[in-house]
Amino acid sequence: MRDYKRFLKEKAYINGKWVSAQNGKTFEVRNPFNNDKIIEVPDLGKEETIQAIVSAKVALEKWKNETAEYRARLLKKLFNLQLDFADELAYILTLEQGKPLSEAQGEIKYGASFIEWFAEEGRRTYGETIPSNASDKRVLTIKQPVGVVAAITPWNFPNAMITRKIAPALAAGCTVVVKPAESTPLSALAIAVLAEMAGIPKGVINIITTNKPIEVGEELTSNSIVKKISFTGSTHVGKILMKQCAETVKKVSMELGGNAPFIVFNDADIDSAVEGVIASKFRNSGQTCVCTNRIFVHDSIYDEFSYKLSKEVGKLKIGNGIEQGIAIGPLINEKAVSFLNNLVEDASGKGAEVIIGGNLNKLGGNFFPPTILGNVSEEMDVYNKEIFGSIAPLIRFTKEEEVIAMANNTPYGLASYFFSKDYARVWRVSEGLDYGMVGVNTGKISTTVAPFGGVKESGIGREGSKYGIEEYLEIKYICIGGL
Ligand code: SIN
Repeated sequence: MRDYKRFLKEKAYINGKWVSAQNGKTFEVRNPFNNDKIIEVPDLGKEETIQAIVSAKVALEKWKNETAEYRARLLKKLFNLQLDFADELAYILTLEQGKPLSEAQGEIKYGASFIEWFAEEGRRTYGETIPSNASDKRVLTIKQPVGVVAAITPWNFPNAMITRKIAPALAAGCTVVVKPAESTPLSALAIAVLAEMAGIPKGVINIITTNKPIEVGEELTSNSIVKKISFTGSTHVGKILMKQCAETVKKVSMELGGNAPFIVFNDADIDSAVEGVIASKFRNSGQTCVCTNRIFVHDSIYDEFSYKLSKEVGKLKIGNGIEQGIAIGPLINEKAVSFLNNLVEDASGKGAEVIIGGNLNKLGGNFFPPTILGNVSEEMDVYNKEIFGSIAPLIRFTKEEEVIAMANNTPYGLASYFFSKDYARVWRVSEGLDYGMVGVNTGKISTTVAPFGGVKESGIGREGSKYGIEEYLEIKYICIGGL
């Protein structure tokens, strides 16, 4: 391991300077594996948030008027640096978040891919000329950056959820204030180190570390300089932020919670479906918003599927993410462990069968064992709530229409998955699922090139793909008369 400490910062980043809180306050960042303190970072509040917003506003005037090519060059440098220092960044990510190092390395590459992609997309934000309604007029559109953007990002992907927001924002000509999650500010600060190395001008990226998310969130959502909020997190918090943004009519992108169904039809390749569940359920110990939440299995293959799944789940090695061969790291904190524990208790109390796991792991601390619950039904919390952890609930079904209705019967609509070899069914079910994303015969759908986002209470807007940059652009209509 090269020297990761050069990326481990004890200061926040505002206007190109590494700063402390005005009152000198700090908070501890802890390793979820053993709860040991890694480092302390500044506990910024409203005043420093205003400073960051103002510095983003000042930087905006120059940044938005640079050529797209210039911005793309700097973003490409940032992309290359993120890959050059992938090992150091991944190490810090695992330290503060707990996910296995191999997954952290995957996240750093995934995060870098957004920077590269949007460096390129920024050069293609075309306007259009529109056939005019009058012979003495010409009608056209141009696209312009929305302005200062606030990005409020989660702890489950401390790098990639930042790059997925700041890369399109910067490419479009916006400047940003990032508020990373309290438990994972270190990867955000490491991005600021890379940005400095890449020569991104001061004020273009600002990072607010804080243990007072409500105070900082209120300023970001109420300050009229901020023109857009991009948030990834829970539906509950997303709704609060949307309400707060209403007063100044900000543009919002919301990537919120999910309750992903995973349907295994009787014509599915069962081994592939098992592989798909492992990929979509146990990634990041189940802590992603696209993780499978409810596994619907056709009654005729239920026993075979549950046997094969428990065999594979039993092989998942649980432990310190820094060590080799670990598939399941700790959960983010004790609260998450007790939430999962309560889900298992509620489900068992209502008749679910614990097929594997369930009881707290002998490793203690923030660990929760990979768990499969059988015969889960609609009245159980595990069926209705976003699990965000390593519990896989199995539900029996018999008919296609019935399972589509069950899958759709939730306020959420982010990711969904199903396995079937019947092509007519592939179309029918893909079209019938009320979700923003559908994985067919795969449990892995996340990629830079595809539009990521949900419908219903799972969010507004899309990230990644050619659509992602549109969230940071306004369309201006220009009418030239008197011709
Ligand atoms: C998330 O959990 O918020 C994002 C997961 C992904 O990009 O795959």
